[in-house]
Amino acid sequence: MTKKFYITTPIYYVNARPHIGHAYTTIACDTVARRQRMLGADTFFLTGTDEHGLKIERAAQDAGKTPQHYADELSAKFRNLWKRMGISNDDFIRTTEERHEKRVQEFFRQIRDNGYIYKGTYTGQYCVSDELYVDGAKPGDPCPECGRITETVHEENYFFKLSAFQDKLLELYSNPDFIRPETRRNEVISFVKSGLRDQSISRSAFSWGIPVPDDPKHVIYVWFDALANYITAIGYGSKHAGAQEAFKKYWPADVHMIGKEIVRFHCVYWPAFLLAAGLPVPKAIVAHGWLLFEESKMSKSRGNIVRTETILDVLGADALRYFLLREVVFGQDGSFSFDALVQRYNSDLANGIGNLASRTLAMIKRYFKGEVPYPSHAASRNAGDDVIAETARRTIKEFGTLFDQFQFSRALESAWSLIAAVDKYIVENEPWSLGERQDEDSRSRLATVLYTSAEALRIATVLAHPVIPEATAKIWEQMGLGDIKKVALNDLAWGQLPLGTKLGDVSPVFPRADKSAVERMQQMEDNQRVPVVEEAKPAPVTAVEPKPTAAPAAPVALDGKITIDDFAKVELRVGLVKVAERVPKADKLLRLEIDIGTEVRQILAGIAEAYAPETLIGRKVVIVANLAPRKLRGFESNGMIVAASLEGGKPVLASFLEDVPVGARLK
Ligand code: ME8
Ligand code: MG
Repeated sequence: MTKKFYITTPIYYVNARPHIGHAYTTIACDTVARRQRMLGADTFFLTGTDEHGLKIERAAQDAGKTPQHYADELSAKFRNLWKRMGISNDDFIRTTEERHEKRVQEFFRQIRDNGYIYKGTYTGQYCVSDELYVDGAKPGDPCPECGRITETVHEENYFFKLSAFQDKLLELYSNPDFIRPETRRNEVISFVKSGLRDQSISRSAFSWGIPVPDDPKHVIYVWFDALANYITAIGYGSKHAGAQEAFKKYWPADVHMIGKEIVRFHCVYWPAFLLAAGLPVPKAIVAHGWLLFEESKMSKSRGNIVRTETILDVLGADALRYFLLREVVFGQDGSFSFDALVQRYNSDLANGIGNLASRTLAMIKRYFKGEVPYPSHAASRNAGDDVIAETARRTIKEFGTLFDQFQFSRALESAWSLIAAVDKYIVENEPWSLGERQDEDSRSRLATVLYTSAEALRIATVLAHPVIPEATAKIWEQMGLGDIKKVALNDLAWGQLPLGTKLGDVSPVFPRADKSAVERMQQMEDNQRVPVVEEAKPAPVTAVEPKPTAAPAAPVALDGKITIDDFAKVELRVGLVKVAERVPKADKLLRLEIDIGTEVRQILAGIAEAYAPETLIGRKVVIVANLAPRKLRGFESNGMIVAASLEGGKPVLASFLEDVPVGARLK
């Protein structure tokens, strides 16, 4: 019987466009899925989008769209991007699809029937950005995960008896493969050991969600809804025989791959929901670290993202795929920079596998009319040839072991050390000199050297295929070997390159990138990130009519009080902070980009000592919208943010207790 293999990515929120953080998880899963297919497993690879909940409802509202319309647009961006990147997912689930909604209700019903759901009242804090109930927080407290101020929730909810599962969960964790890596496993174990509280699994204060079965005033908590995608997509809760078959075949999942910030949802809540429903739990939950950009976590709401499209436009999908898996030690945080990307691209792809392919294949074209030569009689062989064969054999094993433990970086390192060994072998054997001689010995030595190089290239190409599918498929065709997808990885061994294979057309697969690639990518990102701020108008150079020295005094009421007309001159508006970042070499200043309904303004504010920039994003503030622009530290500040300034204390931003639309005027 063929083995089955089911792997999933998280389903991504549709509150903003995808960035390379999402691409990272999706690429990692894609490479695992591709390798499993090459190993002959009946593979199912699932990704999709998470579209319900307050976070999405609000994002849609801010964009002036219905949540459904908004989700449709953003979900399509993820789907299209994955297509462009060669992601080989077998399905793409959206939580607003009917198939999902019905099956989630079925899941809820099953757990309720089993006695693990009851009605109660939740009073406590909620973080909308993380869609997280924050236990033990007081009103006004920040969310421990993201630092944003939590909102107070007081409503009737359905509760899930999480507390009943403490022992069963700990038992699951005793299998060391269930949560990986080890550090995450230990965190989860100590969290669960510290005691579990029952978990609210519905909301009633808003309606953008799946109605609770038989009680539609409540919508199902977005994390319950989202986690269930892993079973609804493959047919759980369906009445169709085909769907039921699929569910039976693929569930439980072999791997849920996720980022480390959502470990608790996947390792505590999700298995508990499944146990409560009487379903098997996943075999493994594998968490990776964060991609950092300019030293902080790249995130949609922080505004420091790198879009994938930029890299695809300039270097192509394989470059990004290779870079992320090679550069980041899986499980740990890793930094992204355009410099490092271009460096890796040139050293490992253009000068590495790309160069090995072009030089080897070009020489076979030149010296053997484009046909793979016979490595002839023993006399033309030497120990160097055997070293390459041995290295290749060892690499096949090592690569497989490391890759199957998700150690992508080390696996690639191993494959690339084979490439480096062949490069060295070629330099030492100087096939170009052998090619200039016509004697029998030189010809047969040349045949051996080029056969050995081509065979090592073939093996490196097969191993690298899941990671750089496009380029390796091209090399495969250039080698005259047909469709690389048909290769059976289990049979991969040294010495299988058929003698006499006729090469196809040969051309470089990874052209070298020059320095301007970095600048071009940076430029493309800058254009995206900083909204166009009008250039400060240069002072007029021609003399203007002198102004009257004293303006006629405005009618001022007694005691220094102003009239209502005076106050009306100040245009105060509600703004939404889109971007917040520190200003280099200015300890007190933050540079903010604030949406005021009609436009996005750049404003500099002296609040850096009171507010960490990332806590401001998504926050509504009051701004003076008609203040004359001025320059601060080279930035134009176009408006002012209103705060209470406390004697000797830190400024406190004016804010609202009720929700207010962006752009509303205060008067
Ligand atoms: O959490 N570095 O969705 P999300 C690495 N809808 N990975 C990153 C990343 C970064 N800077 N940014 C995002 C949600 N990711 C929920 C999930 S699942 C039932 C519901 C990746 O849009 C990483 O996989 O916030 C992370 O876990 C995921 O995107 C979060 O995506
Ligand atoms: Mg997130």
